[in-house]
Amino acid sequence: MASLDGRRVVVTGASSGIGEAAARAVAAAGARVGLVARRAERLAGLAEELGDAAVVGVADVTDAPALTDAVDRLAAQLGGLDGVVAAAGTMHLGAVGETDPERWREVFDVNVHGLLATARAALPHLTDGASWVTISSMSGRRVPSAAGGVYAASKHAAHAVDETLRREAGRGACASPPSPRASWPPISWRATSPRATGPAETTSPPSASACTPRA
Ligand SMILES: NC(=O)c1ccc[n+]([C@@H]2O[C@H](COP(=O)([O-])OP(=O)(O)OC[C@H]3O[C@@H](n4cnc5c(N)ncnc54)[C@H](OP(=O)(O)O)[C@@H]3O)[C@@H](O)[C@H]2O)c1
Repeated sequence: MASLDGRRVVVTGASSGIGEAAARAVAAAGARVGLVARRAERLAGLAEELGDAAVVGVADVTDAPALTDAVDRLAAQLGGLDGVVAAAGTMHLGAVGETDPERWREVFDVNVHGLLATARAALPHLTDGASWVTISSMSGRRVPSAAGGVYAASKHAAHAVDETLRREAGRGACASPPSPRASWPPISWRATSPRATGPAETTSPPSASACTPRA
């Protein structure tokens, strides 16, 4: 990964899995990182390991006011935000006809409302040229199985949120391509042209022509 020396990045879902790995990678590349998730003890353990590079903001991404408070505090501690890795997510497998609607709500609350709440909390703090990375899924482009349909629906919605943020790149954010594998490079990219207004120009994920490597 390119050097992120001096950058300040918030990672949601930092208590395990891809978010935790992203937080470690971002810190290893030289950035300071704000760790967000619900499991305080896991975040504290990671922060202890990362030392001065990490600060902790315990929050549930589905609780928008609490998340905003946490992100405000992290941005104040870090002195601003140059990037966000939105990795908080949840998966449920089950046939539509056999699944409790509460489970659908939970999946959409975390994967869609939580992503929107993350953007709303972070955008006021993002510096010019800041990067946005959404950890979505290939299930955001296709339905891999009948049992994966609800999760896939939430990830299709996550792609729409990601694309929306890219179109708001005039604010300085650069949304990522949608798959976990494809998401990494944009952390060091920046938007070069305002896209906040005007008609939709494309439905494809952003390419290197939409974002160019940071100098
Ligand atoms: N693993 C894969 O193969 C794969 C493939 C494609 C896409 N993905 C996507 O990658 C992302 C990370 O998944 P993972 O595999 O790393 O899963 P994971 O290990 O279960 O991690 C999920 C993370 O999300 C956090 N989280 C869940 N609900 C939350 C909430 N309400 N508020 C705040 N944080 C919440 C969890 O933290 P707490 O429980 O501490 O809150 C945890 O840190 C997800 O968006 C997932 O859909 C994963």
